[in-house]
Amino acid sequence: MQNLTPQQIVAELDRYIIGQAAAKRAVAVAIRNRWRRQRLDPTMAREVYPKNIVMIGPTGVGKTEIARRLANLTGAPFIKVEASKFTEVGYHGRDVESMVRDLLEQAIGLVRGEQAQAVQEKATAAATERLIDLLLPPVAATGAPGGAEGPDASAQRREHTRERLREQLVAGRLDSREVELTITHRPVTSVMFANMGLEQMDPEVANMLERMIPEQTKRRRMGVAEARRVLLEQETEKLIDRDKITQEAIARTQESGIIFLDEIDKIASPGGRGGQGGGWGGPDVSRQGVQRDLLPIVEGSAVSTRHGVVHTDHILFIAAGAFHGCAVSDLMPELQGRFPIRVELSPLGRDDFVRILTEPGNALTKQEQALLAVEGLSVRFDPGAIEAMADLAAQANATLENIGARRLMTIVERVFEQAHFDAPERVARGETELVVTEAYVREQVAGILKDQDLSRFVL
Ligand SMILES: Nc1ncnc2c1ncn2[C@@H]1O[C@H](COP(=O)(O)OP(=O)(O)OP(=O)(O)O)[C@@H](O)[C@H]1O
Ligand SMILES: [Mg+2]
Repeated sequence: MQNLTPQQIVAELDRYIIGQAAAKRAVAVAIRNRWRRQRLDPTMAREVYPKNIVMIGPTGVGKTEIARRLANLTGAPFIKVEASKFTEVGYHGRDVESMVRDLLEQAIGLVRGEQAQAVQEKATAAATERLIDLLLPPVAATGAPGGAEGPDASAQRREHTRERLREQLVAGRLDSREVELTITHRPVTSVMFANMGLEQMDPEVANMLERMIPEQTKRRRMGVAEARRVLLEQETEKLIDRDKITQEAIARTQESGIIFLDEIDKIASPGGRGGQGGGWGGPDVSRQGVQRDLLPIVEGSAVSTRHGVVHTDHILFIAAGAFHGCAVSDLMPELQGRFPIRVELSPLGRDDFVRILTEPGNALTKQEQALLAVEGLSVRFDPGAIEAMADLAAQANATLENIGARRLMTIVERVFEQAHFDAPERVARGETELVVTEAYVREQVAGILKDQDLSRFVL
């Protein structure tokens, strides 16, 4: 997945996001550049830093959506954090570092999943054998009633029984049986220590504390289906190499991790350049504190985690913000310098809405069709209906507040409210098709749009 060309990446993003060509291009190039960098000789590769991106644009135009789809596409470790959340916590550098720890956890999950996939066949076979052991009647009970059997014959009989059980298991005919299993688990330390701030602790100390708590084992009865899941997990755990996973995850975090820093504009302090403005204790001090904490991570530093040290030099940062009432130039100069690529996302209008409503594979109209098809009601849109919904969304954005494509959700919800409620009865009456016409759309929405107070509430 890592070797998509920029044009292929853009084409993939086009399947979900309408317009915003500049932003798509920028992220596609950034991803490709990391792939290029990984192919350089090590001395050169060390010199090439990621070109971090700031996406600037109003709310609901696709900033988060682009980053989210991008991560899925590349299979890179990805997390999204709200920069504004750090202003509430205070001035502790370690809080900001937690984003790197979270990214690593994400990578571990990713790599672990891949390894589990790789050993799945072996683990499944082993789990099945153990399940058969558990289902098998105790040895004494299987002895032939006459007792005249030799050891060979008895072994043969047992093998035969196993074979039959295996067939029945596969056919799902034993799913109603119960078995008893031993389960080992460590009490969930992250919860126990949450109040003590385990994440904030020295990783060595945290690991030590965790080891001090003994593993608990207990026996539990469960159905065959659940036992199969538990056994598969236990067998998978035996077959995968945790240290290797950690190493690979650290490497992947460092080489291809992406941190999406949302609401970066909330930590900019307008007019507060150079540290003035706001006054001590004011929000600007806190914002600048967060910027200062962020800087080493974005510039490249070593963050210690419970699994080892993570170097952040080559992690790609994609920041996003509306930048109303402030500009990228309101960020600390050093931070600005670390985000050399700026892309603007355009506000969305009526024509974009028409496309958003119909083109993406997960388009809202398709979702509605799928949901109501479950009831046996097929939904057909008259040509004018889509345009009417787009019109109404644009109108609501203009008169209420511009919330971009998010407006489509409330409009569509409104249009289908009645059908959602009485679809089963319609179908029972023999109505199997709902034709959504322009008139129907306007009827469901227009009345509300006329009443400012009501529309503020409903739309
Ligand atoms: N250009 C677009 N094409 C298709 N869908 C879009 C587009 N822009 C937004 N959407 C849809 O609107 C919703 C909100 O978009 P998104 O989360 O990307 O907003 P945002 O730009 O990050 O806004 P905010 O600044 O409020 O975080 C998503 O469900 C997304 O699918
Ligand atoms: Mg967003």
